Amino acid sequence: LAAGVLTAGFASTPLLRATSRAAAPAEPFSVRMPVPPVLRPAARLPGCAIYHLTMREAPVEILPGRHTTVRTFDGSFPGPTIRARRGETVIVRQTNKLDVPAAVHLHGGHVEPQHDGHPMDVIAPGDSRTYVYPNRQRAAALWYHDHAHHLEAENVYRGLAGLYLLTDPEEERLGLPRGEYELPLLLRGANLAEDGTLIYDATDVQGPDHGTTLVNGRPTPYLPVAARRYRFRIANVSSGHAYVLKLRDGSEMIQIGTDGGLLPEPVRTGAVSVWSAERADVVIDFSRYPVGSRVYLDNTALFGGETRDVLRFDVVREARDDSRVPERLVPLEDLGPAATTRTFALSFDLATGRYLINGAVFDPDRVDARPRLGVPEIWEITNSDTRIPIPHTFHTHLEQFRILDRNGVAPPAAERGRKDTLTVHPGETVRIKVRFSTYTGRYVFHCHMLEHSAHAMMGQLQIEP
Ligand code: C2O
Ligand code: CU
Repeated sequence: LAAGVLTAGFASTPLLRATSRAAAPAEPFSVRMPVPPVLRPAARLPGCAIYHLTMREAPVEILPGRHTTVRTFDGSFPGPTIRARRGETVIVRQTNKLDVPAAVHLHGGHVEPQHDGHPMDVIAPGDSRTYVYPNRQRAAALWYHDHAHHLEAENVYRGLAGLYLLTDPEEERLGLPRGEYELPLLLRGANLAEDGTLIYDATDVQGPDHGTTLVNGRPTPYLPVAARRYRFRIANVSSGHAYVLKLRDGSEMIQIGTDGGLLPEPVRTGAVSVWSAERADVVIDFSRYPVGSRVYLDNTALFGGETRDVLRFDVVREARDDSRVPERLVPLEDLGPAATTRTFALSFDLATGRYLINGAVFDPDRVDARPRLGVPEIWEITNSDTRIPIPHTFHTHLEQFRILDRNGVAPPAAERGRKDTLTVHPGETVRIKVRFSTYTGRYVFHCHMLEHSAHAMMGQLQIEP
């Protein structure tokens, strides 16, 4: 079997169960959850902020008292958070001091093709490149990560990922929790040896990152919180692992946003699901717990009802709370009637061990679809991998889309927003509506289980005027 065909939830047959080489790491909840630093601009001009980032190897502490060498942006694991405002351009000068090529993609960003981090458009070791992000889109939790062809899975696994929080006045007006009460939770797994070495095993059928759960780069940490509302900007930055998050006491969370920004209205739910590359914007109200409580967040996306620790919230103090979660958030614009339908068939070819979209692997010289600027389309995405049940996550660059239905049924409320990545389960057909209305040129779409895209499960769009 080829690399990373399965995720934890699907490693059901004993035949396919992987033998993990990872050591049992730290005691759960023995380290405090860090918050990635917010990147400071190197310069500010009117309407524009300029940042410098250097991709380099760095030793970090993941397991307590051990050093792990990872690939970083500026030595930070995960990368520093970039904060941007709608209408204000962000310019990022990236310098590659790694010994491998890298291409930096702003996932979910509306950017011109030459700034999109196309897989063939890499920064060679020793070189620099400037990316321009105009931020002419709604407030959203975007993220930046490596996209160099064939290398992205390992590069992201080794650390090349960071959050990019774009805000706008519409969002700020809502009164959601902010400041120290708005925290990123970057979720992923890591296989760590006893001595702290990060093991990348691309042949692991469960995916290389099904090991220890890391939150913001530390294993199953704890987070001291006040007894009030918090807003968590959750991003799944793993290469292929799924998280279905539940509070162990079964109590409610409020999902207010998804990949491309805020939902039209809050969704009260017991389970928040983020597959590879998806984001969830979630408010948890700790005021229902007395000071001294410990509240556990679990991942339940594993086979056979197994759950895994993710994070423990320790309610340590009272605090004033003037935040709100309004019943109306941000309305969804109407994309208009679709004029074209396209189909995308996702499959794994057992005979050749290749991951295919419409029967083909990625060819940088081939264009697979030519959508017209401003013309809405319906895409039907089918996962035919039922013999070996392999889920796929479908992502297109440049635009957010809407999920119309899954096997003919309207999607769950939390998926009725602006999406740029979606899971397609084995045997499922998902219909989406998408309208490219910003830039023309060449972009990619692909499976975001990065071991799959690294094996060329990817295609190209040429957006035509
Ligand atoms: Cu998150 Cu093509 O990328
Ligand atoms: Cu896939």
